Amino acid sequence: MSVREILKFPDKRLRKVAKPVQKFDDYLDILINDMFETMYHSDGIGLAATQIDVHLRVIVIDIKDVEKLYLINPEITQTSGTMESKEGCLSVPYLIDYVPRAEKISLKSYNRQGKPKLIEATGLLAVCIQHEIDHLDGKLFVDYLSSLKRSRLKKKINKDATLAS
Ligand code: NI
Repeated sequence: MSVREILKFPDKRLRKVAKPVQKFDDYLDILINDMFETMYHSDGIGLAATQIDVHLRVIVIDIKDVEKLYLINPEITQTSGTMESKEGCLSVPYLIDYVPRAEKISLKSYNRQGKPKLIEATGLLAVCIQHEIDHLDGKLFVDYLSSLKRSRLKKKINKDATLAS
């Protein structure tokens, strides 16, 4: 297993739309294992393959005391309710903010052998899954924020880059 590099906003590779997994092979196993290791290394609760520059529809999640799981080709089939969730992202280390999400979701996913599994999620788990699926579609949680907040964020990143150089 190895820790991979996590892409950081505003890297354009975070905007690529991931392709469905078609081969359930050793490569996929290694990818999932590396994603868990990379996520734990950064103390995250979720990671999408997009964030390590692998553009396949794979997600890992570990919300302590709630759920540890991986999702392959996840597809939300039903949503209900709305909530404001307080979110951060390993690819956007400068920001935590509120994002509108569905409160409850049903989804279809696959296990490592390519067998379909159905999942129901609520609360933090539901929010985390929605956040990670957004990554697979090239979307970041900052896209939900006002343009004023986003321009402040870009200024902050540029300032830090200047100080670091
Ligand atoms: Ni994220």
